[in-house]
Amino acid sequence: MTPISDRLRDDPSPCLPDGTAVSSLIDPDRREVSMRTLVDPDVYRLELQRLFGRTWSVVGHVTEVPDTGDFVTRYIGEDPVIVVRDRSGDIQVLLNVCQHRGMPVCRSEAGTATQFRCIYHGWVYDEQGKFLGSPVAKQEMHGDILSKSELGLRQAQVGTHAGLIFATLDKQAPPLDEHLGEMGWYLDLFFGISESGLEVVGPPQRFTIRGNWKLAAEQFVGGDGYHALSLHRSQFDLGLLGTTEAITATTAPGMEGLDVSFVHGHAVRCSYLVTMDTSIPALDRLAILPPAGMTPEMVPALGQHLDADRIRVLAEARPVVGGIFPNTALFRFPFLSSDGELAGVVGFHTFVPKGPDAVEFWHWSLVERDAPPEFKEKIRRTTVQTVGTSGQIEQDDGECWPAMTRGARGVYAAEQTLKYQALQGESKPADWPGGGIVSEGFTKDDGQWYWWQRYFDYLTGKV
Ligand code: FES
Ligand SMILES: [Fe+2]
Repeated sequence: MTPISDRLRDDPSPCLPDGTAVSSLIDPDRREVSMRTLVDPDVYRLELQRLFGRTWSVVGHVTEVPDTGDFVTRYIGEDPVIVVRDRSGDIQVLLNVCQHRGMPVCRSEAGTATQFRCIYHGWVYDEQGKFLGSPVAKQEMHGDILSKSELGLRQAQVGTHAGLIFATLDKQAPPLDEHLGEMGWYLDLFFGISESGLEVVGPPQRFTIRGNWKLAAEQFVGGDGYHALSLHRSQFDLGLLGTTEAITATTAPGMEGLDVSFVHGHAVRCSYLVTMDTSIPALDRLAILPPAGMTPEMVPALGQHLDADRIRVLAEARPVVGGIFPNTALFRFPFLSSDGELAGVVGFHTFVPKGPDAVEFWHWSLVERDAPPEFKEKIRRTTVQTVGTSGQIEQDDGECWPAMTRGARGVYAAEQTLKYQALQGESKPADWPGGGIVSEGFTKDDGQWYWWQRYFDYLTGKV
């Protein structure tokens, strides 16, 4: 049978069963998106096929599977996968669906194994997905129509960048570097600034929110800083974001900065470190306010690992939140720990779709491998308390997404639109070394709007 990814390419203009063209759900001139996209099961099915079935998804961090046979089980869209370190040291991502009758061949969330034995009839696969055999070999319990080599688990394309593991089940998807584009440079600034890198602490936290996954994704992955002023106002008022300055609509920390958008749908928000005297060398400024997750003692080593442009960006307008299209959020920002000291929040989320009205929120906390143990613990605790499943920031966001999804079920509500009409446009500082569409000033709708355009590019076959 022709793979689904190829069949979709032959149908570039899908329509919903009532005849509505999917392309009509976005109005590029008015910059509006139909709220029907938030609740319609047919739109959801198209997303699984045309978006998650073809693009790259983040499925974990390399430090979750350090040794041969280490595995974790994850999802690409709704497709279950096993992420496993094979005997040659490569990471394999295998569809966790038995070739016989479809039972998951691995039912643990994490562990170590070099073989996966299906509990139903006992077919066995190795850690590279190869079909090894069925229980009674001489009876040829898999028949003789298909050869053993045709009965392996489906293998995804796999790539890594700055410690993140990406995978796509579409064998024809363009390489990961192409998917990331100029975002790769910023991803290094989030998670690849030290020689020894970051490591995951603890298994990822998860909880299910009864809301559409795109609300989480367009906000967080699209770099929506706008909502922070209102929805997260309490964090500012309490001084938890590292300042006790009086907050006004225009002085709230993080509202002014550089927003970077990408036609690939990724986004980054860079926060100005305005209080720093720029006559001080950049590395010395970094030692005064180190990147979140680092101690001042760890800063000099950055000079050997990073070029001058990256050091300067970290010292002047470092990336704090952002995301990788379609559903991975990145964060690395200063925040007060519960003991009142300046600490930091470091990690990433994925928003895994579970139907049109449910999203599984996955959270990973990260620490620098070379940080002192007690400092790692402080970063872990601050990260979980802030953006973990019980985190004070995510409680705010988790209030909106389900309520908006419920609202969109209404007959009139579904005819209303999401509006992205406040754009900054491009205003890149002449000496800014990074790529992307850079907007300087008060954060607006740019990143979220690019996120939606990329989403529709996938759904309507432009990608
Ligand atoms: S479903 Fe796996 S062996 Fe039958
Ligand atoms: Fe938020």
